[in-house]
Amino acid sequence: MAVTKAPEDRYTAEPFVPGHGGLTALREAAARCRGCPLHRDATQTVFGAGPADAELMLVGEQPGDQEDRQGEPFVGPAGKLLDRALAEAGIDPGEAYVTNAVKHFKFTQAEPRKRRIHKAPGLREAAACGPWLAAEQAIVEPKLIVVLGATAGKALLGSSFRVGQVRGTVPEEETHGRPQRLVPTVHPSAVLRADDREGAYRGFVRDLRTAARLLSQRSP
Ligand code: URA
Ligand code: SF4
Repeated sequence: MAVTKAPEDRYTAEPFVPGHGGLTALREAAARCRGCPLHRDATQTVFGAGPADAELMLVGEQPGDQEDRQGEPFVGPAGKLLDRALAEAGIDPGEAYVTNAVKHFKFTQAEPRKRRIHKAPGLREAAACGPWLAAEQAIVEPKLIVVLGATAGKALLGSSFRVGQVRGTVPEEETHGRPQRLVPTVHPSAVLRADDREGAYRGFVRDLRTAARLLSQRSP
């Protein structure tokens, strides 16, 4: 007997991802993605940004309130902290390709016109959105991916990912079917929320320095 799958099991961006073209074509197509329900309440798709030939790709969780309004990743408070930490680690933020595991803002709102409160995307939404991240990875072919927090980690490395166990290490893993060097670290929003914000920030910069060191090594 055929088992009827619940509709939520079929969430995927796959049919919306063009089979060819560069980042511009991808970005245009992603603007029309209806692969999961998150597009309904969000303002717009927030696609990745940065040079197509970037050696470094950074993967966050999902756009926040500011990103949703402006249509660009990491332009709010977490992005400001990220840029400062990158610069301190010796990485030019303008040279990195920055994106998110999930491309629409997920939030709750007590009432219309009330503040929109960030809600963490689930594995299902991250999986649905995965084809966009895979397509970005295939075009940019970064030398290194910095994984910012648990959602990005689970999207790239599987649901058993625990940031506390692997941060600062340099695993080389298959992600989206290609061998990839990664540096997992915390999410910049976690630094902003930490009780010991200064200590959390220093740990974050230390992980980014690991990334900077790897980038300065010549490719084998
Ligand atoms: N947090 C993220 O993970 N990504 C953004 O783009 C902004 C905040
Ligand atoms: Fe498509 Fe991703 Fe937006 Fe869902 S979150 S609609 S899969 S772009």
